[in-house]
Amino acid sequence: MPHTDTPHKRKLFIETVGCQMNVLDSELVVAALRQTGYELTDDIREADAILFNTCSVREHAEHKIYSHLGRLKHAKRRRPDCVIVVMGCMAQKDQQLIFERAPHVDLVVGTGQLREIPRLIEQARRDREQRLAVSLHRKAGSRQAVAASFESYDPLRTPEMRPSPFQAFVRIMIGCDKFCTYCVVPMTRGPEQCRPPSQIAAEVRVLADQGVREVTLLGQTVNSYAAVENGRQYRLHDLLELIHDTGGIDRIKFVTNYPRDLSDELLQAVRDLPKVCRYLHVPAQSGCNDVLRRMKRGYTVEEYREMIARIRSTVPGCAVSSDFIVGFCGETEKSFERSMDLIRDCRFKNSFIFKYSPRPGTKAYELYEDDVPEEIKRRRNNEMLALQNRISEEDNAAFIGRRVEVLVEGPSKAAEKAGASGPDAPVQLVGRTDCDRIVVFDGHPRLAGSLATIEIHDCTSTTLIGSIVTHEITHGASVSLPIVQ
Ligand code: 5AD
Ligand code: SF4
Repeated sequence: MPHTDTPHKRKLFIETVGCQMNVLDSELVVAALRQTGYELTDDIREADAILFNTCSVREHAEHKIYSHLGRLKHAKRRRPDCVIVVMGCMAQKDQQLIFERAPHVDLVVGTGQLREIPRLIEQARRDREQRLAVSLHRKAGSRQAVAASFESYDPLRTPEMRPSPFQAFVRIMIGCDKFCTYCVVPMTRGPEQCRPPSQIAAEVRVLADQGVREVTLLGQTVNSYAAVENGRQYRLHDLLELIHDTGGIDRIKFVTNYPRDLSDELLQAVRDLPKVCRYLHVPAQSGCNDVLRRMKRGYTVEEYREMIARIRSTVPGCAVSSDFIVGFCGETEKSFERSMDLIRDCRFKNSFIFKYSPRPGTKAYELYEDDVPEEIKRRRNNEMLALQNRISEEDNAAFIGRRVEVLVEGPSKAAEKAGASGPDAPVQLVGRTDCDRIVVFDGHPRLAGSLATIEIHDCTSTTLIGSIVTHEITHGASVSLPIVQ
């Protein structure tokens, strides 16, 4: 019997919102707590510890956490020994305010203190004292002191604790120094700090030994990576070269790119290193120079377009995705049309579109009025989404009749919802191409973690739909199958 089934284990409930950095943080904190005897539950009522890993990028995400916390007030009264933890960006940003708004919260733990969570939970269980563990405010000391107060939390993971056995996130840096005027991340995740290349390479090697085939390197501005080790300077392209030949790793991705730092060397690495996926997420945020200037993005739309042209000429077939904010302070109908033009011309694989949300503590909050009414933000959001979806669908349609290679991720959401229909029955599987396109097809669940060739016969704006042509039987070998419709 696996140990996880023993009845005396303490139960842990975790809810994670926000970016991939948060997903990785949650995975690592859960792994640490499992080592101290916790097991995961998805029933919050039976939990001995409840963790919220939070996001502050938009107000809406914070509201949701506060209202969820509010609903736990009575549960905490009934079960006072259940420890409630608010961790992540909102913890760093709101600090004491969280205790004021939700007095039944036990621990508030910022992004730079994650290592402390198991110890703090044990303490809270013993003495029922509230505790705040956060990093210094960005203006509260020298850069060095503030940086030292944010710790990159990268303990070694054990394979059975990873949510996906063959895919893993690897943090290469924390924090951000760009200070876009709308964004809280430089405050919530602190100064930019890069992990040493040898540490990253060692982590990738361990993950490969544990069966990981795809690593995604994480950083808020991943292509701004710069580190010196043994007298040698490493940028992201050097790091990609360093980890490229790790045996067992088939795919390497990296997110998120900052447009101004997308170097020719990096594009050449994406072109020349076969394991590096031909997919770049490079948020534009706006297509209007006035707006970009107020956002303090550090580039003009002409420079952004020139960067896209460099991607297209250096890495043919590379998929590019973007983020846009609609309704930023002072965004006129004309500015919005410039963003629409940019989407039309760049033909992004997909775009994440957000309505501007003013965030206290940012420059935009201080300097500019949030002057675009909510209903206009909503309309622009919908129009932009419709345009992007049309482009995505048209570009996906070009794949119909073609074959693509995917890394099979496992049963699709629809298949999981439908439930098991027998251990060997084919189900709808989902995989991704190296250009990050989502592909669904029918196959055996045991194909998860292998590479398969899929012939595409239909699509939507988000998904390619196809049938298996070949798949691996062992690593590197493949078998031909009849095409199943
Ligand atoms: N309001 C709306 N969207 C925001 N983003 C960051 N800050 C804000 C904000 N205040 C978006 C940006 C970023 C993505 C992660 O979130 O588009 O790229
Ligand atoms: Fe925020 Fe700009 Fe840094 Fe991205 S680059 S995390 S948008 S401040």
